[in-house]
Amino acid sequence: MTTIFSGVQPTGTITLGNYIGAIRQFPALQNQGQAIYCIVDQHAITIPQERLELRKNIRSLAAMYIAVGIDPEKSILFIQSEVPAHAQAAWMLQCVASIGELERMTQFKDKSSGKESVSAALLTYPPLMAGDILLYNTTIVPVGEDQKQHIELTRDLAERFNKRYNEIFTIPDIQLPKEGARIKSLQEPTKKMSKSDPNTKATIRVLDTPKEIEKKIKSAVTDSEGIVKYDVENKPGVSNLLTIESALTGVSIADLEKKYDGKGYGDFKAGVAAAVIEHLTPIQERYYALIDSPELDDILDAGAEKANAIASKTLKKMENAMGLGRKRR
Ligand code: TYM
Repeated sequence: MTTIFSGVQPTGTITLGNYIGAIRQFPALQNQGQAIYCIVDQHAITIPQERLELRKNIRSLAAMYIAVGIDPEKSILFIQSEVPAHAQAAWMLQCVASIGELERMTQFKDKSSGKESVSAALLTYPPLMAGDILLYNTTIVPVGEDQKQHIELTRDLAERFNKRYNEIFTIPDIQLPKEGARIKSLQEPTKKMSKSDPNTKATIRVLDTPKEIEKKIKSAVTDSEGIVKYDVENKPGVSNLLTIESALTGVSIADLEKKYDGKGYGDFKAGVAAAVIEHLTPIQERYYALIDSPELDDILDAGAEKANAIASKTLKKMENAMGLGRKRR
């Protein structure tokens, strides 16, 4: 059986990078097997969050999942902290992981570099993510490229656990999008577009207004050549904008190069902005219709119940395999 699992941190409005790299794949996958999509609030608190802001972001992400096309009748949509098996599984997986392999994670290195003190949970973040995935016998994990190392570690931990204790885990495969696995910052197009970038012009958010989108794309860093050509090495800014338009419209990059042949960056940027606005407007409309509806709570309650039923079974198997607790009659 195909089981799809993915998660997103509720740490602010999702970006065009989150959308193109991961979330956009979610609705199509719900027709290929059992899809499970999680709001990973326990991952979010590895970095201090303002409590009311976090609560708001959790609800916002739930509405966003549905606005992009996740159907709660088909998929399980839930909040990580409402399924206690995640934290419990994470503890057991931490006992299988080594400090060395956790310290080698580039995300840990990036997020801890230059900081005087970081939480212990920032280091043990990947075993929690492994628990998310492994509790559901997941076969496919659709994510952007920045999560590749975490998925590889998940596979290693699952194999180690299976070998050391008992063959209980399915080994999951990563699924990267065909295009846009790493959308870049509009201001520094060699860096990934990030939710936490302090430069607001660097990141397009899925709830940005058409005016904001136009402004941000207009001020996107390109080059002085004035030719719209895909060349990541020498023209990272132009290539990033081409990737964005191609991913959202389905028009190939080669056809976009033809479309903008002989035109300057002004026309090019206006075209990219129009494509982004056209794609995001219906999502925004659905989002605003949902955000205050009580239906959202019913969906999350039902999701937590279904997720709990699956996760608690795997957790029992893990406890049995490791010899925790007592044998039940
Ligand atoms: P998060 O919340 O940082 O990002 C959510 C998803 O968006 C993708 N992404 C990008 N893709 C392309 N270009 C970008 N610039 C870009 N920025 C982000 C990410 O790869 C991700 O797929 N650790 C995860 C959340 C998580 C998870 C899981 C994912 C927790 N448990 C289990 C899958 C399965 C994270 O921080 O994603």
